[in-house]
Amino acid sequence: MISFETVGVKLGQILSRKPEIIKDDKLRKILEDLSDKVPPIDKRFILSALKRDNIDTSKIKTIGKLLGSASLKQVYKVTLTDDSEFVIKFNRPMSYYEIPENMEILRKLFNEQEIKEKLPISDQLVSAIDESVSRELEIKNEIVQQVKISTFIKKHTNKMNKWSIDVPVVRDDLKGDHVYMDQWAKGESFKTDLIKVLPPEDTKTISKLIYTSLLEQIFTNGLYHADLHGGNILVDKEKKKVNLIDFGNCNTLSNENRNKFIKLILNLKSNNASKTISVLASLLGKQEDRQKFNEEKATIIEEVTKILSDKSPANEKISEKIRLIKNYLDSKKIAFNSEMELLLKIFDTTKYISDNLNSTEIENIFKKAIMPSLLKNPLLLFEAALSGL
Ligand SMILES: Nc1ncnc2c1ncn2[C@@H]1O[C@H](COP(=O)(O)OP(=O)(O)O)[C@@H](O)[C@H]1O
Ligand SMILES: [Mg+2]
Repeated sequence: MISFETVGVKLGQILSRKPEIIKDDKLRKILEDLSDKVPPIDKRFILSALKRDNIDTSKIKTIGKLLGSASLKQVYKVTLTDDSEFVIKFNRPMSYYEIPENMEILRKLFNEQEIKEKLPISDQLVSAIDESVSRELEIKNEIVQQVKISTFIKKHTNKMNKWSIDVPVVRDDLKGDHVYMDQWAKGESFKTDLIKVLPPEDTKTISKLIYTSLLEQIFTNGLYHADLHGGNILVDKEKKKVNLIDFGNCNTLSNENRNKFIKLILNLKSNNASKTISVLASLLGKQEDRQKFNEEKATIIEEVTKILSDKSPANEKISEKIRLIKNYLDSKKIAFNSEMELLLKIFDTTKYISDNLNSTEIENIFKKAIMPSLLKNPLLLFEAALSGL
């Protein structure tokens, strides 16, 4: 998988969040950590990237340690002449060629009948990888998104029990089309190794803080970080500070889809299977998805009813119900409209965060994040009151 570079790492990341497919915890951990195994490229490439973007290199004192050669980007620590600490990020120069080529191989591989049978969601996997790697190639978008979300977070829920959440500041004068710099954030990835040693109450607070911020981004900002796996969350234990990084994968949500999504949540909350089904139907993608949905309506109702009535602590959460419904429709090859498709994937990506919270905590976070939208829409507010949220 490592020889597949970016494409292989992405595949690993996505699979590591699918316990339904990869049942072995150890294997999921190996897949989660694949990103640390891709060999870095030569540091000298940075200089050519800087030159290409006409960036003034006289402000840079030293280019230090390699921080990540994860998938696409190479990230090095940088000390500027005023001794401030930043990181420099640029795409692996070969990625522009390697990605399309490796995607092509992956597509062929996943089209093999044998793989399709063993991995019923292979089509979705390929498009998820394709989508995320091609977006990550656009450094310019990444910078704009990072700045917008950073501004948003500063004005919303960014503190809890002495912990705070923030986004590293981008250096305006040191950015270009292929390379940019942002403030160095001290900390460790919010992954299994850290979670194992953190006091449980800190894990809870951090999880609440991230989840609240994410849902506020979704419901209030309409632009949100869509790739909050542990490697993109840096936790500074001493300063009790959480930094979100890596804004290459951000999504937007229109008001129309947002209101439908709120309806979905309210119907999940009130365990109303038939209304849940009709909201789901209103969120589908193409004509063929609607057709399949109608043809299989009876089994879908049965499955949704089952998911709604599951009262086990792990499956009772709204986040988990959304995730289970999405995974079920994936297995039926029924897709939502593109905004919704991307939005619903978030609940897979952040399952490791919601796993640290119970159903009441999750519900309260949804409530808090949805409230501003409800207050603007009396009809939704009324439905919310009926649902008991
Ligand atoms: N501002 C930062 N401060 C400290 N470390 C960073 C910062 N930005 C990135 N890193 C490190 O570099 C790694 C890769 O950066 P990231 O932006 O997540 O790129 P990728 O798209 O390759 O995942 C991160 O996992 C993190 O370890
Ligand atoms: Mg990353």
